[in-house]
Amino acid sequence: MPNVVIVGAQWGDEGKGKVVDRYGARASWVVRFQGGNNAGHTLVVDGRETILHLVPSGILHPDTRCAIGNGVVIDLRVLCDEITALKAQGVDPTNRLFVSYGAHLIMPYHRRLDLARERFRGVDKIGTTGRGIGPAYEDKIARRGVRIADLSDPERVRGLVEQRVAELNALLVANNDTKPYQRAEIDSLVQETVELGQELAPYFANVGEQLAKASRDGAQILFEGAQGVLLDIDHGTYPFVTSSNTVGSNAATGTGLGPQHLGRVVGITKAYTTRVGAGPFPTELHDALGEQLRENGREFGATTGRPRRCGWLDFVALRYAVRVAGIEQIVLTKLDVLSGLDQISICTGYEIDGERFTTYPDNAHDVARVTPVYEMMPGFADIRQARNIEDLPKNARAYVDRIAEELNVSLALLSVGPGRGEDIEIVDPFQS
Ligand code: GDP
Ligand code: IMO
Ligand code: MG
Repeated sequence: MPNVVIVGAQWGDEGKGKVVDRYGARASWVVRFQGGNNAGHTLVVDGRETILHLVPSGILHPDTRCAIGNGVVIDLRVLCDEITALKAQGVDPTNRLFVSYGAHLIMPYHRRLDLARERFRGVDKIGTTGRGIGPAYEDKIARRGVRIADLSDPERVRGLVEQRVAELNALLVANNDTKPYQRAEIDSLVQETVELGQELAPYFANVGEQLAKASRDGAQILFEGAQGVLLDIDHGTYPFVTSSNTVGSNAATGTGLGPQHLGRVVGITKAYTTRVGAGPFPTELHDALGEQLRENGREFGATTGRPRRCGWLDFVALRYAVRVAGIEQIVLTKLDVLSGLDQISICTGYEIDGERFTTYPDNAHDVARVTPVYEMMPGFADIRQARNIEDLPKNARAYVDRIAEELNVSLALLSVGPGRGEDIEIVDPFQS
């Protein structure tokens, strides 16, 4: 039976959390492989909402083990608070949450730099989540990051931080941050990091080795992507992207397993499109209809609370996502949100300067210049109670079939509400 990689096929917030929770019971392991607490994955079980930023979305299944791979960047304070919150709701991650020694830390100065840079950028703001993601990955690539493995040696942490802060102070000043780090602040930063490291030490593990062993023993592994393909550092709408590879292939690099372990890539897409933060969004609706989607879909960021920009489904973008992420199956979420509309538009092509094309522009800057070409489909009534494909009204069925046909993928699941079980299973990605 294949392992499964879940990736967002759009600009994030496609409902990955709900889907990972759905499949989590079938997997022995659920593993995050990139991103950090820029992610906000929402699970709704028996009416209770849990938003996870770092802990994998399999954690509510008591028999499922969860791991945070080397490709993730970790804010220790956020991880600590998330574990505390889970324990308070009766979910104990002890002995079933494992954090890779190879993962890099998001340090308090990464957050400061992220925010300072955004302020400094003025009109070119990316609209980051302000969680220090970019600066943490920068330090990783520049080979000056602090890793989980360093935490067992406080002097090493101090050395790394002091070296970094010397350079950083100049950078902070250059980015209009007027408060460079002072001695006392550096000391308390090192102390806090080391203390959090001690508190979280029981969770630290050789994740790659554990997964390899589990795999040899026949375990099913579910890789949980964060963000979405169009936010990928290489393949997204650069520079309005996040700082990691969000595509499925990174699930190998980000966990320490070889690519032969990845199995099937399942892309999650909403039945429409949303985006938080800045950057091109060809099918964005700036009118009352966009507002209606935001209200009906409760489209407000799970991490920052920002209103999400809303628009129609975009086949050009989705075909591109299917190609670059290797998506074989699709989960279509939030189909219920379209209920009640007279007509639904789908973008089937783009036009630039009167020329029509159906592939994603090579130059990300061109995405901002395109005019979408739309196809119309008739709307449908409420579908939230549907649990079998036969329960869907004719027009909803036609919409779903049109998507599968156009993307040349099979549909694994249709989601018709935020709660666990509010969906229609078509095929099981672990089986088929
Ligand atoms: P993620 O980042 O991909 O995990 O997605 P988020 O959790 O940030 O955003 C998805 C939102 O949509 C959450 O509030 C979910 O509870 C909700 N959601 C997921 N699937 C559905 C669905 O099929 N219908 C509706 N109405 N809400 C959904
Ligand atoms: P999940 O996993 C939606 C967006 C930010 C910003 C850009 C860069 O919940 O789908 P960053 O803080 O990563 O440097 O911000 O990426 N972004 C997300 N948008 N969902 C997310 O995660 C996101 N994570 C980052 O809004 O535009
Ligand atoms: Mg989210």
